[in-house]
Amino acid sequence: MGDNRQGPVYRSSTTAPVNIAVIKYWGKRDATLNLPTNSSLSVTLSQASLRTHTTASCSAHYAAHEGDSLLLNGSAEPIQHSPRTQACLGQLRSLRSSLEASDPSLPKLSGLPLHIVSTNNFPTAAGLASSAAGFAALVRSIADLYALPQSATELSRIARQGSGSACRSLMGGYVAWRAGSAADGSDSLADEVAPPAHWPQMRALVLVVSAAKKHLPSTAGMQVTVKTSSLFPTRADVVVPRRMQNMEQAIRARDFDAFARLTMQDSNGFHAVCLDSWPPIAYLNDVSRAAVRVVEAINQQSTDAGAGLLAAYTFDAGPNAVVYYLERDTERVAGVFRALLGNERVEGWEGSYGQDIKPAEMEEL
Ligand code: ADP
Ligand code: DP6
Ligand code: CO
Repeated sequence: MGDNRQGPVYRSSTTAPVNIAVIKYWGKRDATLNLPTNSSLSVTLSQASLRTHTTASCSAHYAAHEGDSLLLNGSAEPIQHSPRTQACLGQLRSLRSSLEASDPSLPKLSGLPLHIVSTNNFPTAAGLASSAAGFAALVRSIADLYALPQSATELSRIARQGSGSACRSLMGGYVAWRAGSAADGSDSLADEVAPPAHWPQMRALVLVVSAAKKHLPSTAGMQVTVKTSSLFPTRADVVVPRRMQNMEQAIRARDFDAFARLTMQDSNGFHAVCLDSWPPIAYLNDVSRAAVRVVEAINQQSTDAGAGLLAAYTFDAGPNAVVYYLERDTERVAGVFRALLGNERVEGWEGSYGQDIKPAEMEEL
C-alpha cells in the first residue's frame, strides 16, 4: 500500500503461468457465461520461461469518471467494452463487497476504480495461451488485492469467464477443465488431475514460428467452427469425451507413448475441425508442418528400434509448436530442434523458449 496526499493506493502484484492443452477446448455452448462444448486437459508450464506479470491497484484518488483500466504490454486495452473482463471484475468486486459488509473495519475497496497493468514476457495473441496466463493473473492479482478467501477452484470459475483456458492456469501440473452440465456454469471448473510431482519428468519445448498476432482470435474462431463444421459435433460429443478418459489414464499410468499419441491426435483433430469450418480456418503454416516432420522423424527412429514415441507436437490457435517429451530424451528431442534452429538453412524460425520447461510446481502459483 502506497500513500500520498489524496489517500492510499492499494496494490497487489502476481505472476501466472501459461498452460498448453493436450486435449483442446474449442467451442462454446454458452458464449455469455463462456461454457465449453467439451472438457479439456492441459499441462501448466513453469513460469521460469513464459509468464504474465500483473499489478492491480485501486485508490480513491483514481478519477472515478475514467473507471477501470487495463494497460497491456504498454497499451490501453478497451476493457469498458469487454463484457468478459467486466464479468470478472464485477464478480471479484461483489465478493469484496460481501467481505466489507461482514467486517466494517475493512477499507471500502469494492467501490474504487481498478487500474490493472499487465505484461506478457512472450508473444500476445499468437497461440501461446496469453489469454490463459493473462486472465489467471488478472483474477489472482485482484483476489489478492481484495484479500479474498476463495480457493483456486472458486477463482477458476471467475477466470473461465475472462477466457476459458484461463481457468486451467490457476493450478499446477496436469489440469482438467470439466465442461459441466449446469446451465449457470457453476460446475464448469478446473481440477488438478495430477500434481507435477506425479510425473515430474515431463518437459516442453516452445517453438516460436511467428510472434505475430493471429488473424482470427480464438473466441471468434471457435464460434465459426461450432456454427459451420459438420465434423465438429462428433469431435465434441464422441471423440473428446473418450480421449479425456484415455488421457487421464495415460497420465495416471505415466504412459508417455499413449500421452504422446493422444496429444498429437487431438491437436490434429482440432485443426481438422478448423479447416472444416466455413470460411476455413488455417492456423498452421509451412514452418509448423516442418516441426511436425521433425517430431515424426524422431518418433520413427524410436519406434523402428522397438521403443515408444519420444515426442508429441501440439498447436493451439496459431502456428507455434509446443513439443512435449520426457527429461531422459532431452538430447534426442530438444537437442535435435536446437541443432536445427542453430542451422541458418532452416528459415522461418523466430526462436524458442526454455527448451526444457517443466510442469509448474504449486509453490510457484
Ligand atoms: P492466445 O492464443 O494468446 O491466448 P487469444 O486470441 O485467445 O490468444 O487471446 C488474446 C487476447 O487475450 C488479447 O488480445 C487480450 O485481449 C487478452 N490478453 C492477453 N494477455 C493478457 C493479459 N496479460 N492481461 C489481460 N488480457 C490479456
Ligand atoms: C486452441 O481460452 O483462448 O488454445 O475462452 O474465447 O478466450 P476464449 O478462448 P481461449 O481458447 C483456447 C483454445 C486453444 C485450446 C485450449 O487451450 O484448450
Ligand atoms: Co487464448
